[in-house]
Amino acid sequence: MKVGVVGLGTMGAGIAQLCVEAGLDTVGREVTDELGERARDRIAPFLARKVEKGQIAAFDLERLRLTTDLADLAGCDVVIEAIVEELVPKQELFAELERTCGPETVLATNTSALSVTEIAAAVSSPERVVGMHFFNPAPLMPLVEIVRAELTGHAAFDTAFALAETLGRHPIRCHDTPGFVVNRVLIPLLNDCVRVLDEARVSSEDLDAGMKLGTGWPMGPCELLDLVGIDVHVHASEALYEKLREPRMAPPPRLVAMANAGLHGRKSGRGFYSY
Ligand code: 3HC
Repeated sequence: MKVGVVGLGTMGAGIAQLCVEAGLDTVGREVTDELGERARDRIAPFLARKVEKGQIAAFDLERLRLTTDLADLAGCDVVIEAIVEELVPKQELFAELERTCGPETVLATNTSALSVTEIAAAVSSPERVVGMHFFNPAPLMPLVEIVRAELTGHAAFDTAFALAETLGRHPIRCHDTPGFVVNRVLIPLLNDCVRVLDEARVSSEDLDAGMKLGTGWPMGPCELLDLVGIDVHVHASEALYEKLREPRMAPPPRLVAMANAGLHGRKSGRGFYSY
């Protein structure tokens, strides 16, 4: 099987890493050679460490072919899109993918808060469009939500489900509703956690300790928001609020202010914590 990954940011690079680990021929597309190479350089040490720990026998990073040209995705069985979380660029990309890929290629989106159905509306063959929502960090989180949009065909859905299994993930099936399964629950929950910071006048450290030691979360909500990216969370939260109009979906002002100030979490060096 040959898989294409479009966009090699945090999520795309993690997905490409899983494909290489599974021994699949992988084509990774970025807008510049430099961005592609940077992603490959991020993947390499994780794979080397896995070999060191005996978790995998070997890996062949040659299986990841980098390109800036969408035409190189032509022979892929599945293309997974992981570009910016904006509807119009995703629709433009899917329309272009439909022109460049063969009719059998399944077109999957890793969107977390947009509608897969709306993305699929940009192509004339929406039956081959499906959601494959990975979690951050993709190589460590076993879950993938396989999202059935309004017009997703059985063949595309089953191919996406089987691919997730090939990647060693645990796929679950759901329909295309705002936030799908996990983010529908997690986003308002994290928003509540941030509201509690102010209401209970508790420190980030104590809130994190509370959720880890009191409920067994693997990391506290503030640590998790720093991992996901404050900007990414605020953006997803706003998208869900726009669709559901539930007050808990709206990002709390404290998070919006952090996002505007460039306190984006781990990737920017500062969020609730400093890195
Ligand atoms: N690829 C491969 N290996 C990696 C890696 C990567 N990207 N990142 C880290 N590792 C390795 C580390 O090198 C480490 O190995 P080593 O210590 O032997 O060198 C190993 O994995 C474990 O790393 P950690 O010590 O950091 O692992 P932890 O045991 O602390 O677990 C965690 C980390 C899995 C992230 C755990 O804390 C966790 O489950 N946190 C919750 C994360 C979560 O909820 N994610 C979902 C966010 S919501 C989302 O994604 C939705 C989206 O739409 C926004």
